[in-house]
Amino acid sequence: MAIRDDFPILKREVNGFPLIYLDNAATTQKPQVVLDAMNDYYTSSNANVHRAVHTLAGEATEGYEACRQRLKSWFNADRAVITSGTTEAINLVAHAWGRANLVEGDVIVLTEMEHHSDIVPWQMLAEERKVELRYVPVLEDFTLDMDVFAASLDDAKLVCVVHTSNVLGVRNPLEEIIQLAHSNGAYVLIDAAQGVPHEQIDFKESGADFMAFSAHKMCGPTGIGALLVNADVFETMQPFMGGGDMIETVTVDGSTYQTNEHKFEAGTPRIAEAIGWCAAFDWMAKLDLEKEHKRLVEIARWVAEQLRSMGIPVYGRHEEKDSAVVSFLHPTIHSEDLAHLLDARGFAVRTGHHCAQPLLHRLGINGTVRASFYLYNSMEEAEYFVEQLKEITERFG
Ligand SMILES: Cc1ncc(COP(=O)(O)O)c(C=O)c1O
Repeated sequence: MAIRDDFPILKREVNGFPLIYLDNAATTQKPQVVLDAMNDYYTSSNANVHRAVHTLAGEATEGYEACRQRLKSWFNADRAVITSGTTEAINLVAHAWGRANLVEGDVIVLTEMEHHSDIVPWQMLAEERKVELRYVPVLEDFTLDMDVFAASLDDAKLVCVVHTSNVLGVRNPLEEIIQLAHSNGAYVLIDAAQGVPHEQIDFKESGADFMAFSAHKMCGPTGIGALLVNADVFETMQPFMGGGDMIETVTVDGSTYQTNEHKFEAGTPRIAEAIGWCAAFDWMAKLDLEKEHKRLVEIARWVAEQLRSMGIPVYGRHEEKDSAVVSFLHPTIHSEDLAHLLDARGFAVRTGHHCAQPLLHRLGINGTVRASFYLYNSMEEAEYFVEQLKEITERFG
């Protein structure tokens, strides 16, 4: 499999077995070109950005700003603020937009499917600004209750919704959500952490006002992500982190700020990471993402079907609007024990609440085992996974 050859880590063994990495919803592996790009930067161009006129500073600035341009062209966006990841991007909206635009009595609509990153910042803001939070429930079939969503929009100023659930793999009906929210005068934030690795999203066409995501879930480095913002909405945001790089002038009496994205990027930014992320985009641009996603969804559907036929409850739809995630709960082997038994055979899977405790509470469980597939995973790995699960069940179940 050609894609696989680009990932040096996939050649390693774990506990004497070939590594089978199925924890991609947590973070993805990095192709050699990303590692090389970051290494080259530190080896030959390392300098700080935006200020100095020397050659190295010019190269570093060019590399960093190339990442922003890549974000804008990949997602068709006018404004791309570079952050540390999805979490910081959502917190940026809460601080820079929420504090400037929300008042007591305003409503923010969330869903029970959100990652903690798209719940906690709003709870903090709600406490500070006395805004109301409304949660859209998740139904028995693992979809959002769209009737409750429509009924929740009175006085709503913002709707925050996850593109694809990191626990269920369910892709939400964003088109309908955005249309309904806008027709009720609410802005929309999409947590696309699990969406952008699998889907080429046109931000402007989506109509969303904010979109947050992380590089590390799409073969890029950790510690970097982005917030895309609608150009008009961008003008209504106020900086919340002060420091170098975000200012225009500073006197002892006060400061003026940059007017572009730098306004929200105080301090030395993530230069090597931006250069690495650019390399990841270049690498991904050579793939047919839609075809790959289809292949991964088929793998996940097959695994889900096999687990169900073994009497293992699976959480998620795996019929339509799904992604490459299979969350399950073994009826007789504790999740942590199962993860250890799998690790002993070279498999990396995730266990626990996946930073989505309200969702697990709604499902009436404390956690799941999650296998999530990405570009370098194969059907053979999935078959081996199911075979080993059967063997573990026979011996320990
Ligand atoms: C749906 C979703 N939102 C937000 C996040 C947070 O991403 P990060 O930790 O990169 O900020 C994750 C990470 O697992 C996620 O899956």
